[in-house]
Amino acid sequence: MADNDNDLSLLKSELLATVAAATDIAALDEVRVNALGKKGRLTEQMKTLGALAPDARKERGAALNLIKDEVAQSIDARQKELAAVALRQRLERERLDVTLAPRPQAEGRVHPTSQTVDEIVAIFASMGFTVAKGPDIESDWHNFEALNFPPDHPARQMQDTFFMPPVDGKPMVLRTHTSPVQVRTMQTQKPPIRVIIPGRTFRCDSDMTHSPMFHQVEGLVIDEVTHMGHLKGCLLDFLRAFFNTPDLPLRFRPSYFPFVEPGAEVDIGCSRKGGELKLGNFGDWLEIGGCGMVHPNVLRNCGIDPEQYQGFAFGMGIERMAMLKYGIPDLRTFFEADVRWLKHYGFAPLDIPNLALTGVAP
Ligand code: PHE
Repeated sequence: MADNDNDLSLLKSELLATVAAATDIAALDEVRVNALGKKGRLTEQMKTLGALAPDARKERGAALNLIKDEVAQSIDARQKELAAVALRQRLERERLDVTLAPRPQAEGRVHPTSQTVDEIVAIFASMGFTVAKGPDIESDWHNFEALNFPPDHPARQMQDTFFMPPVDGKPMVLRTHTSPVQVRTMQTQKPPIRVIIPGRTFRCDSDMTHSPMFHQVEGLVIDEVTHMGHLKGCLLDFLRAFFNTPDLPLRFRPSYFPFVEPGAEVDIGCSRKGGELKLGNFGDWLEIGGCGMVHPNVLRNCGIDPEQYQGFAFGMGIERMAMLKYGIPDLRTFFEADVRWLKHYGFAPLDIPNLALTGVAP
């Protein structure tokens, strides 16, 4: 038996030595197959047990089983060791280089219409106005009737209207101006009212200076004592701040809008000498909007007593103001969604509107 013991302990130490010598998982797998596999050395030894006498078989079998367990445990332990080494090497290899400079991000641009709305809102906010809104699809009543456009009145033809299918038997339009939101505001707010209304407007019109969809900003002030002087002062402060031109002259030219009385077109001073447009006191004039004192009929239509309250309103085209301020020649390009145009005329997301001239800015 001593011989047997000897050859088994030799076999054991040999096998354990090959386990220890395996330097990667693949080599260890090979060791496992050579020791414990179907034709492995221990398995082969097991197969010889049948030829032994029962006592010897029992003894040798037990000894072989012990060796088998020991070798299997040693393979498992080595496997864990090698896995840990492999992980350590991988972590080492794939280490994150935090010193690597970030790749430049493609930066989006703010559309000039959005930027201009932000600037307008910021200036009027500093003058105590809040923002009001209304729907793009508007009832004929809000868009025309309540604003003192009687049915079949020729003034309706001044605005080439997109007509919509009636809702509950009521005629509907795409709003042709932001003025219907004057009506909505007066119906829901009690004076004093100071709102501006930036928003989309629609007219069936398209050329260099007209687009079927464009933006306007409306202003409405209703109070007990309000007059044309307030209107002119308000527009003057706003326009000088917006165009960053402290001596910008303003002119009211009498005009007709059914919902104001008196009504005026708003012109600002400019020069067009040599085909270049400059804003300022140069003797030439450029129209930028309409305005006037809110018509008593409109106040009445909205449930406001014209004996107690008056007010003024104004409306300006937002793209037109952006074109003037930023030298953009063609209105249609605002709506073509050309990223090259946006890259050129757009604004950085954190550009801040200019409040310097309102005197109320921090
Ligand atoms: N809504 C008018 C237009 O679109 C502009 C305007 C607004 C005129 C307010 C007077 C008062 O032409």
